[in-house]
Amino acid sequence: MAERPSSTPVTAIRGRLLSFVGSPNGAHDHASYRYLDDALLLIEDGRVKAVGPAAELACRLAPGTVVEHYPDGLILPGFIDTHIHFPQTRVIASYGAQLLEWLEKYTFVAEQKYADAGHAEIGARSFLDELLRNGTTTAVVYGSVHPQSVDAFFAESVRRGTAMIAGKTMMDRNAPTALRDTANAGYRDSKALIERWHGKSRQRYAVTPRFAITSSDAQLQVAGALLNDYPDVYLQTHLSENLAEIAEVRRLFPWAKSYTDVYDRFGLLGPRSIFGHCLHLSEAELQRLSESGSVAAFCPTSNLFIGSGLFDWAKLTDPRRPVRLSLATDVGGGTSYSLLRTMAEAYKVLQLQGQSLPALTAFYQATRGNAEALGMAGEIGSIEAGRAADLIVLDARATPAMRHRLETIDGDLEEELFVLMTLGDDRAVRATYIQGRRQHHRTEES
Ligand code: GUN
Ligand code: ZN
Repeated sequence: MAERPSSTPVTAIRGRLLSFVGSPNGAHDHASYRYLDDALLLIEDGRVKAVGPAAELACRLAPGTVVEHYPDGLILPGFIDTHIHFPQTRVIASYGAQLLEWLEKYTFVAEQKYADAGHAEIGARSFLDELLRNGTTTAVVYGSVHPQSVDAFFAESVRRGTAMIAGKTMMDRNAPTALRDTANAGYRDSKALIERWHGKSRQRYAVTPRFAITSSDAQLQVAGALLNDYPDVYLQTHLSENLAEIAEVRRLFPWAKSYTDVYDRFGLLGPRSIFGHCLHLSEAELQRLSESGSVAAFCPTSNLFIGSGLFDWAKLTDPRRPVRLSLATDVGGGTSYSLLRTMAEAYKVLQLQGQSLPALTAFYQATRGNAEALGMAGEIGSIEAGRAADLIVLDARATPAMRHRLETIDGDLEEELFVLMTLGDDRAVRATYIQGRRQHHRTEES
C-alpha cells in the first residue's frame, strides 16, 4: 500500500546515492554520474537543500532531526515514464491481438467506463499507487476521451504533490460512438482542462490526439491551434507502431508524404511533442523528427507484447540526424509499470538487433535522460541542490535470486545496476519520496 503523505516532512535521508550529470558515453563512463557510498541528503520545502558525503554534511543536521537511513539502499532520482495510459489499468495482460484489434477488443471497451467520474477517481488512486510502488514519480499520461477522467487524475496528483503531464484523448472518428468527441468539443474540452490544470501545482497539460486514425483533419487542425494558443503545453500521440496502422494512415490521408507528415502538416512536431513507438520510420521521417526536436518514446514491453516491432535505437540516434528519445512503459499495451522491467526488455530488443544498452545508459535514460526529453531537467531527474526531492531507494538484494547473484559482483556499481534492471521490479523499490515525503515504503507484506 502507498502511504498517504505523513504529517512531518522528512528532512534528511542517508544511504548510497547515484545521480547522473550527463548522458553516458557507453559503459564505464564514470564522468557521467555522481556516486557516493555514504551520502546525506538534506531536504527543505520539498527540495534538495544539500547533498554530499555524510561525513561532511552531518554537522549541518539540526539537533533532533530524524535521519531515514538505508545503509544498503541505493538512492536515485525517481523514475520518469514518458508514455502511459491511465484508463488501461485493466487492459494490461489482454491476450492475443495486434494493435488495431487490441484497441477494438479491449481498450475501447475499458476506456468507456471512464465516463463515470467515480470510476475515474478510483482508477486515478490505484494508478498513482502503482506508479509510486514502482518508483515512478513523474509520468506523461493519456486520459480517456472524457475530460472528467483528466480532472480525476490531476486532482489526485495534486493531492500527492507529484509532477505529472496528462491530457484528454481526442478522437472524433474510427472509435465507438461513446468514445468520440468532435473537433469542436475536443478543442473546447482540452482548452478548459489547460486553463484548469496547466501550471497548477506541479501539473502540466499535453494535447492528446490519440493517433492519426482516430482524428479527422479538422481535429488535428484544432490540436495544432491549441499548441499555438498555449506554446508551453506538450503534445503526445502515437506514431508508426504497427504495419496495418501505417497502411490505414496512408489510406486516410492520401495527400500526406508519410505518417509523420500527417502530424507535421498540422504543426504537431516540436521539442515538446512526444511520439509513442516510432518503429517503422523512413529516413525522411527521421530527418523531420530530428530537425523539429521531437521526442520518440521507446516502449519495449508494449512493442514485444503487441508484436509491433523492434525499436532501432542506433538508427534513431544516428549523429547525422539524431532524434531525441525517451523510455516508457505504455501500460496497458506495455506489460509492466516498472521502469526496471522496461529497461530489461529494452536491453533484449537491442540485443536482437546486435545493439547493446549499458546499465548506465538505461538508468540515465529513466531518470535524467527522460527529464531532459521533457525539458524538465531543472526540476527532476537528478539529485542536486534546488531540484525537487522526488527520490527512490532501490534494493538490489530484494529477492533471493538477486541476493544470490549479488554475491558475485564484488562492489561493482555497474554490475549491481545491471542485476537491478535485469532481475528487478517493484520488489526492488524500497521507498518512494515525493517532495521529500515518503509516499511508498515496501515492507515484507507489500
Ligand atoms: N495507438 C493508438 N492508441 C493506442 C493505445 O492506446 N496504445 C498503443 N500501444 N497504441 C495505440
Ligand atoms: Zn500508447
